[in-house]
Amino acid sequence: MWHYKAKLLYTIWIILLGRRSFLLVNILVVGSGGREHALSWKLSQSSKVETVFTAPGNGGTKNNIPINVDDLDRLSDFAQKNNCFTVVGPEIPLAAGIVDKFNQHNLKVFGPSKQAAQLESSKIWAKDFMKRNNIPTAQFEIFDDPKKAQDYVSSLNYNVVVKADGLAAGKGVIVCNDTKEAISAIHTILTKKSFGIAGNRIIIEERIDGIEASYIALSDGNVAIPMASSQDHKRIFDYDKGPNTGGMGAYSPTPIIDDDMAKKIQEKIIDKTICAMKDEGIMFKGFLYAGIMIRDDEPYVLEYNVRMGDPECQPITMRMDFDLYDYFVACVEGRLSSMPPISWKNQFAVCVVLASEGYPESYIKNEEIFGFDLISNQVCVFHAGTTKMNGQIFSNGGRVLGVTALGDTLESAITNAYTASEKISWPHKYCRKDIGKKGLSYL
Ligand code: AMP
Ligand code: GLY
Repeated sequence: MWHYKAKLLYTIWIILLGRRSFLLVNILVVGSGGREHALSWKLSQSSKVETVFTAPGNGGTKNNIPINVDDLDRLSDFAQKNNCFTVVGPEIPLAAGIVDKFNQHNLKVFGPSKQAAQLESSKIWAKDFMKRNNIPTAQFEIFDDPKKAQDYVSSLNYNVVVKADGLAAGKGVIVCNDTKEAISAIHTILTKKSFGIAGNRIIIEERIDGIEASYIALSDGNVAIPMASSQDHKRIFDYDKGPNTGGMGAYSPTPIIDDDMAKKIQEKIIDKTICAMKDEGIMFKGFLYAGIMIRDDEPYVLEYNVRMGDPECQPITMRMDFDLYDYFVACVEGRLSSMPPISWKNQFAVCVVLASEGYPESYIKNEEIFGFDLISNQVCVFHAGTTKMNGQIFSNGGRVLGVTALGDTLESAITNAYTASEKISWPHKYCRKDIGKKGLSYL
């Protein structure tokens, strides 16, 4: 008798299992940085998700698929064969039209179209868009002739920022302290072509001296809902000294954006952007990131990104108290306004980036990293420039790891992130020691 009962139970179990995987979805996260590790980590917690693949991924992500982010044909083949919902992390495939390509194949994909991605892929397109739609940004002029650009900066009585038009891995922006530096920046980009064709045209804009923060929202093309606020630390050395990097650490939320400021940014920048894009016939679906400078209590857009920030994504995802996958699907299907309000852990999160000494210039790679076993479950060590060989983790890039921790106060989150960071070691490890301190000074 027991034999039949066991068989019946087994059959029911198999049916349920079958149903379960029938209802579950696979995810393909495109990218290989800390942002993509954080997104994969969060998405794998969804009860609706079966397997999260990452292409090409890094030493920390699971189910890595060796396809580069710009190999759109192979990515689309993979998504088709594995029935994936795709989430695109970095700007390169977005600017190359990955979303348009996937849509042509009826594949579900979260991210903006190539046209919408122009907000990031052409700074000139973005500046013209802001100007014609009255979105607050620094005043600017566009040049392709170095002589005319030089005459222009010589005529100004304020400092400027010189920007290459196209994508330059975050390096095509030169903040100048005087006319001499501005002229040198013009020649670096337009004459020496240090950023290649990305520098065929430049923007020269007014330098706004204020406080910088990141404001990221999720949009389905009709409405936009804000993610938690955050602040990045772009320079390589403590107290914002040295050259710009991809970001040396971030924390969320930032007291720099209080409720009044959040409302201003949402209305004057985010909602206006989504609405104006729609009016111009472009549905912006995806993460819309506004790099904000606040001067005299007014926000200005320094730049748009059409994706999550890296490293802002790491502390933001750690604070999410909702199923991110549900919101991605709602964006793709254009029904974000009918979703329940999102909720956040009422804690601070801090991400300290551990980098290879020498970054953002040259640095040593392939050093074995130790100490992962000493990290508590409360802390997330998101991988970026790492690779796994024979079960061991090695450094493989400039920004190597993003040690991310929660805390009931910003101070305790900072302590938790640094306590964990100190447990991780490799010969040429470098990190800033002041991540989050700017926030403390505003509390
Ligand atoms: P972007 O890639 O355009 O965000 O520029 C990189 C960094 O340059 C920003 O994070 C700012 O710190 C700085 N920056 C860009 N535009 C301006 C501006 N108009 N005024 C002052 N700083 C700027
Ligand atoms: N953290 C700045 C960026 O992602 O561009």
